[in-house]
Amino acid sequence: MRYKPTDSVLDKNIDEKKQGDVFFKEQLQKNSQGKQFYIESYGCQMNFSDSEIVASILGEMGFSPTRNMEDSDLILINTCSIREKAEDTVRKRLRVFDKIKERKPGTLVGVLGCMAERLKAKLLEQERLVDLVVGPDAYRSLPQLVSDAWGGDKGVNVLLSREETYADINPVRLDSNGVTAFISIMRGCNNMCSFCIVPFTRGRERSREPFSIVAEATDLFNRGYREVTLLGQNVDSFLWKNPETNETVNFAQLLAMTADVHPDLRVRFSTSHPKDITDEVLHTMAQYENICNYIHLPVQSGNSRVLELMNRTYDREWYMERVNKIYEIIPDCAISSDMIAGFCSETEEEHHDTLTIMEFAQYSMSYMFFYSERPGTLAAKKYEDDIPLEVKKRRLNEIIRLQNQISFKQNQKDIGKTFKVLIEGDSKKSDQDFKGRNSQNKMIIFPKIANLNVGDYCYVTINDANSATLKGEIVNE
Ligand code: SAH
Ligand code: SF4
Ligand code: F3S
Repeated sequence: MRYKPTDSVLDKNIDEKKQGDVFFKEQLQKNSQGKQFYIESYGCQMNFSDSEIVASILGEMGFSPTRNMEDSDLILINTCSIREKAEDTVRKRLRVFDKIKERKPGTLVGVLGCMAERLKAKLLEQERLVDLVVGPDAYRSLPQLVSDAWGGDKGVNVLLSREETYADINPVRLDSNGVTAFISIMRGCNNMCSFCIVPFTRGRERSREPFSIVAEATDLFNRGYREVTLLGQNVDSFLWKNPETNETVNFAQLLAMTADVHPDLRVRFSTSHPKDITDEVLHTMAQYENICNYIHLPVQSGNSRVLELMNRTYDREWYMERVNKIYEIIPDCAISSDMIAGFCSETEEEHHDTLTIMEFAQYSMSYMFFYSERPGTLAAKKYEDDIPLEVKKRRLNEIIRLQNQISFKQNQKDIGKTFKVLIEGDSKKSDQDFKGRNSQNKMIIFPKIANLNVGDYCYVTINDANSATLKGEIVNE
């Protein structure tokens, strides 16, 4: 299906621009000329994608990005609250920024992202040298907050929004390889997984206007990019309703619209929720060669009682059925997962169910964690965090060991196969080798040959594999 922007959508953008305070903007641009910002990002891909929106907003102000924090006038840290360790890392970095600020007193330090949202003004009390605290839906207020901070006023804006999608902002690609890019298609999360802080830090789920997503993908393709990853905490619940016609666009339709940009533009997406992934999405994937055969489908636990406590709203059988369906409709699909070891009251047998579901699903890779209680979440309120740390760690190690074995076995099976690979750059170890990924998202290293460049597709036959990477040689197809 096709969707065209309605006049009202375009008019709205123009009106919003007109409404901007022209004088304030000009003044700010003058003050910011030649100023540099430095940004560090932690957490999920959405946070990295948000940093590119922040870079665009600051760029409009006249700031330019620098990789050297010592040179910068504004140091920003885009933070994550998902586990206690993530917050500890941020606090350590703030100590480093404090030292720079002591040496260069005019430097501003700003905390963005989920930790800003979770701790709000408390961060200013706890972290003496922080000047700005800005939540994920408030980045448009950065110019005002920076300007206030120059005037000596510390500022906080952590208002969450039901509408903000930053759809009209053209992200400035930071640390880009020029080939692969992320596009945020929605924000927030309406699920209430009991362990998870995200609904509190990111607010309600809202889907971005599809035309702006397709326009961003088209622009990236025209600039030489060859892969986009559509991002959301739960992409399967993407749903946009045209306010004029009530016509809707769901995730399967959005996937098709993005894949139609060009056959040479690969489309990936993350994250899928087992309760919401539809057969329509799977059939759309099967239909388009350029939609990659890879699904990140976090299971969290293989045990139905634990899944219920986690409020994941599916059980072991439901998850297994979804996995069977994926392999039935897309036989060469790779599936990856997230697992949490040692959730409240998890028994040894229940932990064992996680190991057996991993065997069943044959994950290509997984992100694996032990449970970390987050203040304010349902689990923190309702359940005791009663699994001793050494037990959590031992269970996690068992999960990691098994995943390594499964990944190794899976990768060994790829030896002798030929894959279409998008070249992303030089391999880390040698500039004589390229690195790139196949449709299944597996990293492949192979010797360079003449006339092939970053951003080109080539065919690679696999001749070696460990649990993390495949190695091969380019062949003619
Ligand atoms: N939206 C994604 C997950 C985003 S958070 C989804 O629904 O799957 C990324 C991962 O962090 C989660 O999948 C989960 O495995 C892990 N995680 C979230 N909260 C956690 C906690 N309190 N302790 C340990 N791991 C957690
Ligand atoms: Fe967190 Fe669950 Fe939402 Fe994922 S789906 S972000 S785990 S609440
Ligand atoms: Fe972390 Fe926030 Fe992402 S808590 S995982 S940065 S949504």
